[in-house]
Amino acid sequence: MAAGAALPLEARAPDAASAAPGARPRHVAIIMDGNGRWAKSRHQPRTLGHKAGVDALRRTVEAAGDLGLEVLTVYAFSTENWRRPASEVEWLFALLRSYVRSDLDRLDAAGVRIRVLGRREGLPQDILDLIALAETRTAANTAMTLVIAFNYGGQAELVDAMRAIARRVLLGGVDPDSIDEAMIAESLGTADWPDPELIVRTSGEQRLSNFLIWQSAYSEFVFTPVLWPDFGRRDLEAALNEYAGRQRRFGGV
Ligand code: IPE
Ligand code: IPE
Ligand code: MG
Repeated sequence: MAAGAALPLEARAPDAASAAPGARPRHVAIIMDGNGRWAKSRHQPRTLGHKAGVDALRRTVEAAGDLGLEVLTVYAFSTENWRRPASEVEWLFALLRSYVRSDLDRLDAAGVRIRVLGRREGLPQDILDLIALAETRTAANTAMTLVIAFNYGGQAELVDAMRAIARRVLLGGVDPDSIDEAMIAESLGTADWPDPELIVRTSGEQRLSNFLIWQSAYSEFVFTPVLWPDFGRRDLEAALNEYAGRQRRFGGV
């Protein structure tokens, strides 16, 4: 590495306080999984599981605020979820619409800053308008940032960042040798907040499914068998307790 270049983990690592044993993370990211299986176990359509998942989201956002998290990121729709039947995709879009419409006032009053992470291309215009409204209205809020990953994929995000950097190189402003971890991190949709110290996935699956692949380089993982619609405050607290017992070394001793 070139002399003077910043190490990525110096640039973006959580501060000592949130990495120390017993600490609480600043940023928790959740892969909300298991809606379909939750519905299936009740002999209900998958859509009902997604609807119940929105209630779990409400509980979790409120709990995250009470527990003092700075950032909560939730994975709501991946770039791969387009492979689902069109009717289910439409239902997931409808739920985003209804969630923002019904909860925006309350989230705003609670001081929550809303950010939507993911590709805008492919999303219907009314959703784009709602996203712009939610982000603009809550931009100055400081109690907590709620990041909704929607039409998000970590590889797509990296592709977009590479394209942006390549354009800067072509225009002559950026020397390829000056491209480093910090520049890439700053080119991602997540540039404005710290990387997640903790990633939680519900429903027993143990994979990232293209979520925050760059940002999770040193994240701790908690996998719980709880299906997302059943998730709530106690499950979040349990994950935070598990995190508090972890030893993070960042390659050191
Ligand atoms: C998570 O639940 C919600 C989204 C991926 C949008 P799933 O719909 O993936 O539920 P399962 O995994 O089929 O149970
Ligand atoms: C990950 O869940 C995406 C979201 C939670 C939005 P999936 O259910 O789509 O993931 P896979 O297909 O099981 O990996
Ligand atoms: Mg799933």
